[in-house]
Amino acid sequence: MDTETLRATARDLVATGKGILAADESSGTIKKRFDSIGVESTQDNRRAYRDLLFTTPGLADHVSGVILFDETIRQDAHDGTPFPQQLVAAGMIPGIKVDTGAKPLAGYPGETITEGLDGLRERLSEYRELGARFAKWRATIFCGADLPTVWAIRANAHAMARYAALCQEAAIVPIVEPEVLMDGDHSIDACQDATQRTLLALYTELTDARVDLPGSLLKVNMVLSGADASARADHHQVAEATVRCLTADVPDDVPGIVFLSGGQSDRDATIHLNEMNTMGPHPWELSFSYGRALQAPALTAWGGDPANVQAAQRALAHRARMNGLARDGAYSEDLESSAA
Ligand code: 13P
Repeated sequence: MDTETLRATARDLVATGKGILAADESSGTIKKRFDSIGVESTQDNRRAYRDLLFTTPGLADHVSGVILFDETIRQDAHDGTPFPQQLVAAGMIPGIKVDTGAKPLAGYPGETITEGLDGLRERLSEYRELGARFAKWRATIFCGADLPTVWAIRANAHAMARYAALCQEAAIVPIVEPEVLMDGDHSIDACQDATQRTLLALYTELTDARVDLPGSLLKVNMVLSGADASARADHHQVAEATVRCLTADVPDDVPGIVFLSGGQSDRDATIHLNEMNTMGPHPWELSFSYGRALQAPALTAWGGDPANVQAAQRALAHRARMNGLARDGAYSEDLESSAA
């Protein structure tokens, strides 16, 4: 394993002012996104949409890397260049989602286990040939009465550690993504407790699996009130609870923590990230790996119409710039009106 190259790639993904674009929606998830704008989820439409995202002028100013789905890593940009090569030429690092999804956890109603370890060594080797330099594996953790259970947390943490070790063997930087979901009416304290227990288990398993932490990244939820909670924590409370949780449980030699947006509005995701960065310095970079919070305005602006490609690209470039500023605590809501 070339540890230095892995560590350098991990650092590049959280370079100053930059974060990751998550564009790795599975076939089911992208269909949901397309349904919301009345566009049919065909292979051509998915290719056209990802093409407009990845060829956005200036995207690399604030986006270090892009997470792709299996279908997309095999597709070409409009000029015939395979997407991974197109991204590299534009100054971005190609990544790949390698888990095969969260399935019901036997014996534990309401909880899931993420699958995808079988054949992973071979798949990683192919993805590296196709250009992937980092990967992602997402586990979903549920908050609720007596949830999450110790077993669901341990089983998911164990699978993530095995995934991460296989990635490093294949010279691919693993992003481990435990997501405590916003679904439900739980309090911010319940989210904090679940996130803390999950991170503790995860870093125990990663260490036992001999994963080189400086050659890995953490992708995690912010500590938030449940989507249906009656009393909602404000921006400052979210930032404080999240930083407290990470400080307690994420080792200092992890180079970066990249947040998922998880159903927050695009502006909330930016404000929270900004607030956390004003509380620094932190031992790790605090950055973004947003899907919806980067793409939502672009998806709406596009609406499936080729005539709207430039408007959609402007919308994506704007959100990337706002989040790039939030990386340094330099964002303010006044800047939202400065969209090109
Ligand atoms: P969201 O930012 O839309 O939560 O997506 C990030 C992601 O990659 C979820 O796995």
